[in-house]
Amino acid sequence: SQTDKELLYKIHEIASNFFQEQLFETEVGRTIGYSYFKERGLRDEIIKKFQLGYSPEKKNAFTQYALDKGYSKEILEKSGLSIFPENSPNGVDRFRERVIFPIHSFSGRVLGFGARILKNNIKTAKYLNSPETEIYHKSNVLYGLNQSKQSISKNNLCLLVEGYMDVIALHQSGIENVVSSSGTALTVEQIKLIKRLTENVTILFDGDKAGIKASFRSIDMLLSESMNIRVLLFPDGDDPDSFVRKHSQEYVENFIQKEAKDFIDFKAEILLKEAGDDPIKKAESIRDIVKSVGFVQNALKQEVYLKEVSNKFQLSEQSLFNELNVQKQLQK
Ligand code: GTP
Ligand code: MN
Ligand code: MN
Ligand code: MN
Ligand code: MN
Repeated sequence: SQTDKELLYKIHEIASNFFQEQLFETEVGRTIGYSYFKERGLRDEIIKKFQLGYSPEKKNAFTQYALDKGYSKEILEKSGLSIFPENSPNGVDRFRERVIFPIHSFSGRVLGFGARILKNNIKTAKYLNSPETEIYHKSNVLYGLNQSKQSISKNNLCLLVEGYMDVIALHQSGIENVVSSSGTALTVEQIKLIKRLTENVTILFDGDKAGIKASFRSIDMLLSESMNIRVLLFPDGDDPDSFVRKHSQEYVENFIQKEAKDFIDFKAEILLKEAGDDPIKKAESIRDIVKSVGFVQNALKQEVYLKEVSNKFQLSEQSLFNELNVQKQLQK
């Protein structure tokens, strides 16, 4: 309901302030949370810009704080920030002993949180996110959009990265036109949010298997929504965050400018490397690329791309066109 929603916005604002206070103003928060961000190279002003925080170890630190302020168990449970199991009537915090990344709406309201463990270990999920609530629908939100929207408009380009830290690290290095879908597959709703600001997207994903897979999916989604796209994978093992820490803003900007490819060159490079000399695998690769061309919405653009494929692989446009039509039949 509308009253619930207003309360949920309020609780998230209070929670975000609580986590920030923990980070900056408590002994534990400083020695654990703040030091964590420092070790990752973040300066104070960027920690504040993204309103990063820390959730203490205590089982119900935030829940108790919110109950004391008069919020009901019912609304706290709806917020996803607390649970009240039968054996813990005082409640349990969803986020404990993690650094906190508030997730904002386009207009800057806190809708939910991402939260990272401090030391990587295989037993615990690295990131824990807010569940779906009345105000947080993860498929409708892009992390960093509120902080990046002006720069995206100004540059008429949106950089798309995988993670929270990638967005933040790029901002710190002066590159501010960047958003992340934060671990979920890119959705049509998210693309429509970008489209309000620009039709140009450069995908900057991690140079690992997961990054390649995610980039292939995202390419087809973006093409379906008539976006112009370029793609760049970072060198093996790097993601935008680790890469910008090694290089200057100028170097990173040039690198993106120079290395980002159109989707055909990008897919060709990756798929052909996998295919090697095997003619069957090579044909599969070309089919895969033609399939992406099939997602291009404009007939003229589609023909231009087919010409590019034709030149690149020394294949007749007619046979590629036939393949495209086969693909289109399959998609129906
Ligand atoms: P750092 O290790 O902090 O640099 O994170 P990263 O962003 O480089 O992580 P990774 O490349 O593994 O994942 C990209 C994004 O996927 C993250 O920023 C998260 O949004 C999401 N993600 C990663 N691991 C998990 C997880 O264990 N659970 C959930 N729900 N999301 C995750
Ligand atoms: Mn991972
Ligand atoms: Mn990764
Ligand atoms: Mn990463
Ligand atoms: Mn990373």
